[in-house]
Amino acid sequence: MDQAERLSALLSGEDDPIATLANAAAFLYQELDDLNWCGFYLFRAETGALTVGPFQGKPACTRIAVGRGVCGTAFARNESVRVGNVHEFAGHIACDGASNSELVVPLRDEDGVPFAVLDLDSPTLNRFSAEDQRRVEESAAIIEKRIRSI
Ligand code: SME
Repeated sequence: MDQAERLSALLSGEDDPIATLANAAAFLYQELDDLNWCGFYLFRAETGALTVGPFQGKPACTRIAVGRGVCGTAFARNESVRVGNVHEFAGHIACDGASNSELVVPLRDEDGVPFAVLDLDSPTLNRFSAEDQRRVEESAAIIEKRIRSI
């Protein structure tokens, strides 16, 4: 089985969103080399902010305003943001000082409206290629179909 098939198999049969996101974060953290953080920020309508969800890595900032940092930018644009050097990204939020590159992919509902982002951080500059982005987007599509909202 390839990575997408194994992720689908792991997530099948469980509809609870926290369980799904927790196992998805753990799976991707194990599968992908050279990460120091992997997890989700969830949009909360009550606060209008992204709030940290299930993840692997060091404790992280709990809330990110829409439009702020790499996560808030990806969410506001509703598109993936791949950053080769986070220190050159205006507004980057340094949760873990070890992070040097980052890839953030939105998760969307049936109408294409984002409800969360998947955030991957690496200590290596330029860790994420265009092909990595494509694969992570494929994983995000599998995850969002399992939950669709949270
Ligand atoms: N660096 C992110 C913040 C989240 S942490 O990396 C876990 C950002 O700029 O949005």
